[in-house]
Amino acid sequence: VPPPLIVPSVLPADFARLGDEIRELCDAGVDRIQWDVMDGVFVPNLTFGPDVIAAAQQHSRVAFEAHLMVVEPDELLPRYVEAGCDLVIVHAEACTHLHRTLGRIRDLGARSGVALNPHTPADLVEHVLTETDLVLAMTVNPGFGGQAYIPSVENKVARLRRMIDDSGLPIELEVDGGITAETITGAAAAGADVFISGSWMYAHQDGKAAAVRQLRTAAAS
Ligand code: DX5
Repeated sequence: VPPPLIVPSVLPADFARLGDEIRELCDAGVDRIQWDVMDGVFVPNLTFGPDVIAAAQQHSRVAFEAHLMVVEPDELLPRYVEAGCDLVIVHAEACTHLHRTLGRIRDLGARSGVALNPHTPADLVEHVLTETDLVLAMTVNPGFGGQAYIPSVENKVARLRRMIDDSGLPIELEVDGGITAETITGAAAAGADVFISGSWMYAHQDGKAAAVRQLRTAAAS
């Protein structure tokens, strides 16, 4: 079983100091960094364009992943890969042709990922497992950081874990939303191996490195 990956969301960062914030995350020992890209349509919030991510890339020693919470992501895919995202995650609910979109991400040279909102059944990814390198089960309704973890999603995580294991494919299973040292244990027990943390990591009283260590320990417990 691969070790748990701890991946911060940049959403809670001070956007006036993004370069420093990225360096601090790298110094804290994170495995990757996730950019929550929001278009104000798929979710009621608006965040990072590709140029912001490209500027931040120069300050990073770890890989970037883009979580595209946008409608019609196809047109944006090349921009986020060129901006330096090695992994691009699209929402199944936003893709009319999900199988083709995931293939396009790989054709652009990045790894592909598919995200599911809390209401979306695991079965929606059944016929695209060969096209994806990661499945993201949202444990909050997307759009904002600092929301409460939705424990019932753990049933979906367990089902996704079985689907991935049965496929024999090297697919990462990521959870995102409300992840803390407490909630991570249930998500890990259900079968997740990549954990996104935003507000809890940024608010940790002992700093981000301690937060990363605490999450790793709790996920492996
Ligand atoms: C929701 C975002 C958040 C963010 C993490 O759209 O995707 O889940 O990454 O936020 P926290 O860890 O504060 O819930």
